[in-house]
Amino acid sequence: MALPSRPASHPCRDSPAKSTFSKTSLAAIHVPVLLRETLEALDLGPGLTVVDGTVGGGGHSRKILERIQPDGILIGLDRDPLMLQHTATVVTGKRSHLCHASYRDLPNVLRDLQLDAADRILVDLGLSSDQLADRERGFGFSTSGPLDMRFDVSQGESAAELLSHATAEQLTTIFHEFGEERFSRAIAEQIVTQRRTSPIRTASDLVAAIDAALPASIKREARKEPATRVFQALRIAVNRELEHLEHALKNSLYDSLRPGGRLVVITFHSLEDRLVKHAFRDESRWQCLHKKPVAPSPQEIRSNPRARSAKLRVAIKLPPTAVSASPK
Ligand SMILES: C[S@@+](CC[C@H](N)C(=O)[O-])C[C@H]1O[C@@H](n2cnc3c(N)ncnc32)[C@H](O)[C@@H]1O
Repeated sequence: MALPSRPASHPCRDSPAKSTFSKTSLAAIHVPVLLRETLEALDLGPGLTVVDGTVGGGGHSRKILERIQPDGILIGLDRDPLMLQHTATVVTGKRSHLCHASYRDLPNVLRDLQLDAADRILVDLGLSSDQLADRERGFGFSTSGPLDMRFDVSQGESAAELLSHATAEQLTTIFHEFGEERFSRAIAEQIVTQRRTSPIRTASDLVAAIDAALPASIKREARKEPATRVFQALRIAVNRELEHLEHALKNSLYDSLRPGGRLVVITFHSLEDRLVKHAFRDESRWQCLHKKPVAPSPQEIRSNPRARSAKLRVAIKLPPTAVSASPK
């Protein structure tokens, strides 16, 4: 199948927009999670049109490309232009497109590419190890850089901005709901007190505030856990991650798949997994392939601890009016 030529207004670019973040801090260290299980769930073959909705460093996409050769099409989306700069060096070829977009906006991307629908869609949520390790972005509590945490720095407010004006109530809700942190209130109150005299601008400022809020009885090593949860919660809030997922599950992902096509979602948080599980329960739209989500093996968790909370769910899209479909 020949690829249509791309109109000028296309959101997908061969060389994605320049980011303000330094390239030097971006090394490809991310190890794709549940790789074998994802490829199995996608059930790939030559000629398929596959969307990687969160292409990141291209770990999954590179393997997907191998399996859809010679005439398949890969469309990789990411909200982070810096990730796309890196991915453009590893996901190459005329039949792959990298697009600076949220998977929530997939129907627009497909329309701009003059494609009707995808045969397979993968969404691997959260952030990549490369983003976490980037000292200039504030995603990781062991970095000391500015507390930004936005996937796309051209949109919304940074974590530092959020922390500068949110009320203690709002921060407690964020840390409690998105981080399941038991010291949410104490941490939120400490932040609000601390910012009166010294604004929280960097990852180290936030770590210091969290530390100051924890009871002295919490041991040195255990103090890392609340920091991990608070950083995760802030990232989810700053990027409105659950809103993107919820909206996409309701509309964009279903609308962008061909009937009989497959949607594979990897989550890292119980709230994300709940949204996916709930969406896949709709038997007028989805045929869910497993009762329980697929989890990483003990070996994978040992070699890549980041995989420990991963859950994979896969469903086949049913045609809008029918109750059953045969997969492509
Ligand atoms: C876990 S990483 C993906 C890793 C990738 N599967 C790999 O193997 O290299 C998640 C990526 O999704 C991106 N992302 C997060 N939310 C997104 C959204 N709504 N739309 C598109 N990309 C998103 C992040 O910027 C990050 O690069």
